[in-house]
Amino acid sequence: MTTALSPWRLCVAPMMEWTDRHCRYFHRLLAPDARLYTEMVVAQAAIHGDRARLLGFDAAEHPLALQLGGSDPALLAQAARIGVESGYDEINLNCGCPSDRVQSGRFGACLMLEPALVAEGVAAMRAVVPAHIPVTVKCRLGVDEHEDEAFFRRFIDTVAAAGCSVFIVHARKAWLNGLSPRENREIPPLDYGRVLRLKADRPELTVVLNGGLRDSADIQAALETLDGVMIGRAAYHEPYLLSAWQQSLFARPRAAPSRAQILDRMRPYIAAHLAAGGEVRHIARHLLGLYQGAPGARAFRRTLSEARPGTGIVVLDQALACVERQAA
Ligand SMILES: Cc1cc2nc3c(=O)[nH]c(=O)nc-3n(C[C@H](O)[C@H](O)[C@H](O)COP(=O)(O)O)c2cc1C
Repeated sequence: MTTALSPWRLCVAPMMEWTDRHCRYFHRLLAPDARLYTEMVVAQAAIHGDRARLLGFDAAEHPLALQLGGSDPALLAQAARIGVESGYDEINLNCGCPSDRVQSGRFGACLMLEPALVAEGVAAMRAVVPAHIPVTVKCRLGVDEHEDEAFFRRFIDTVAAAGCSVFIVHARKAWLNGLSPRENREIPPLDYGRVLRLKADRPELTVVLNGGLRDSADIQAALETLDGVMIGRAAYHEPYLLSAWQQSLFARPRAAPSRAQILDRMRPYIAAHLAAGGEVRHIARHLLGLYQGAPGARAFRRTLSEARPGTGIVVLDQALACVERQAA
């Protein structure tokens, strides 16, 4: 008997300004079985903003999670309902992002200080989201001086009791003051052990590890114990790694498409975007790292990054020609 793989086995992290719909379409071509996440969408914006722009996606992006930011349970429930109506496969609450803008709105990592409020938010969302759609939480190990294991466990247990059984843990704490968001992704040390212990003690929870992962052996090792891994920067900067992870983490007999084949598969999507009045550079910026680690990577990146308003799809041919010249 084969056991089904967890739907969270390979996730691409929510990243503001990066994992927009174009990026996700590209990532989907590279990793057909990965779970993709939107950028964080503030609950108020989901309710009052331009829904087509904020929530629209291509059917190819499934399975796709909507990440919400917010703390008001009623607003979260309203936004979650909108997310479900828009066709998302999961509603995820951001309890891990430490930026100032986010703290002033009382959401993100500062919510780890208020587990009861997060639990209320989760319960409110759970009440309106159909049972087959998971409501999940992405968090850190702690915030500021609250970094002991008991603090982390209290947060998890309180939120789990409200109906969340999937936790994606960025395995470091966040400093709410004094560090930039970027520093908060690098300076607090990673502690995978604490995430492994959570799974050992709460086997009924789905636990997904995030933070600093890129090496296939590390990923395989994490998956021996945990339900999944979530990868952010490595997937964005070197997207062809997604193809390697797709091959090593899922049983797929098909050969991985080459970088050039992936680029080719982006063409109809880019053409449709242009026909709708969009620009090549909106999409090309996510493709810059496709040849990272291969001959011609730098010329490919330079050519694509020179796309300006009005640049046609021909820039793809020019970038590819650079790679082929280097490889010859
Ligand atoms: C540019 C950027 C934007 C991010 N935006 C979000 C976000 O909107 N929501 C969130 O939960 N985390 C956000 N993160 C954090 C990532 O989801 C992830 O937790 C973090 O980068 C650690 O994973 P990694 O080491 O694999 O990159 C962002 C990270 C980056 C680099």
